[in-house]
Amino acid sequence: MRQTSPQILSPDSTGIVQAARFLRDGALVAFPTETVYGLGADACSGPAVAAIFDAKGRPSFNPLIVHLAQSDWARRYADWSELAERVADRFWPGPLSLVLPLKSGHNLSPLVTAGLPSVALRVPGHPTAQRLLDEFGSPVAAPSANPSGRISPTRADHVAMGLGNQVAAIVDDGPCSVGLESTIIGLDGPPRLLRPGGISHEELEHTLGQKILPAQTGAITAPGQMQSHYAPRARVRLNARSSKPGEVLLGFGPGKADLNLSATGDLREAAANLFEYLHKVDATGQPIAVASIPDVGLGRAINDRLRRAAAPR
Ligand code: TXA
Ligand code: MG
Repeated sequence: MRQTSPQILSPDSTGIVQAARFLRDGALVAFPTETVYGLGADACSGPAVAAIFDAKGRPSFNPLIVHLAQSDWARRYADWSELAERVADRFWPGPLSLVLPLKSGHNLSPLVTAGLPSVALRVPGHPTAQRLLDEFGSPVAAPSANPSGRISPTRADHVAMGLGNQVAAIVDDGPCSVGLESTIIGLDGPPRLLRPGGISHEELEHTLGQKILPAQTGAITAPGQMQSHYAPRARVRLNARSSKPGEVLLGFGPGKADLNLSATGDLREAAANLFEYLHKVDATGQPIAVASIPDVGLGRAINDRLRRAAAPR
């Protein structure tokens, strides 16, 4: 965890180059979008994405929106469709996020999607966000740059007050024009409004040429809240000290394990490995025993997910 104050960068080329360099180093950079300031990290780096959850202090992993410089990039990460093309054509760049099936061979960290087989993509319209994404040249995961449960930041000093020493830098480009998070629609099934925002239901239906199912409360807007949503098929046993015959032991810290979330007991490293390892073990069809994880900081989010995985279903 960082303890120094963040660098405040101007939205000029020197600032953008520096911000992109921080992202390449795996550091967190807050940057303006037309909706709210985002807390950005390299979407392909597990440890960098884990740092987002750590900084926000969120007790669970929810999937994050992946920001792209251009619509063309979307095809690398999602199974693109005619419907996606239609809304992207009309609303990108802009305050709209699309949830689409994750494309095989994508190199995003599985932590970005919280292990889901879908991904939320957005091409922001803010020129500074675009220049940063362009300079970085790769997707950036970015939730709103506020501590969990607090108000979303629409100015750089909101970020500094809320997350200050948790970010390497803040690109300051004044207030955000929309001030409200992007509209999210799910196109990984029948079109569904997952989060209302600046772009209305009606506008979207008009462009899609079909009805959009309304937002549902609770579960769908935060899929992580569903009890066994990302559950592996195999049985999961928590707080294991050793494996029973046939089980694969997922370890934490020093000690024997078939796969170790973090041999050094580093919670960020464990978070970065969590979904990848669960998927890997699940593919073997063997039951999973997981060592106990300290219930502090990121450990709370890891335990939340493990409890869901182990929940009876
Ligand atoms: O305006 C915005 O969208 C801001 C700025 C920074 O771009 N970003 C933002 O990101 O609000 P974030 O990560 O806080 O939004 C995450 C939400 C999740 O809580 C969930 O509702 C939805 O996006 N989401 C992301 N991936 C999803 C998925 N695969 N399936 C369903 N919902 C998903
Ligand atoms: Mg938020």
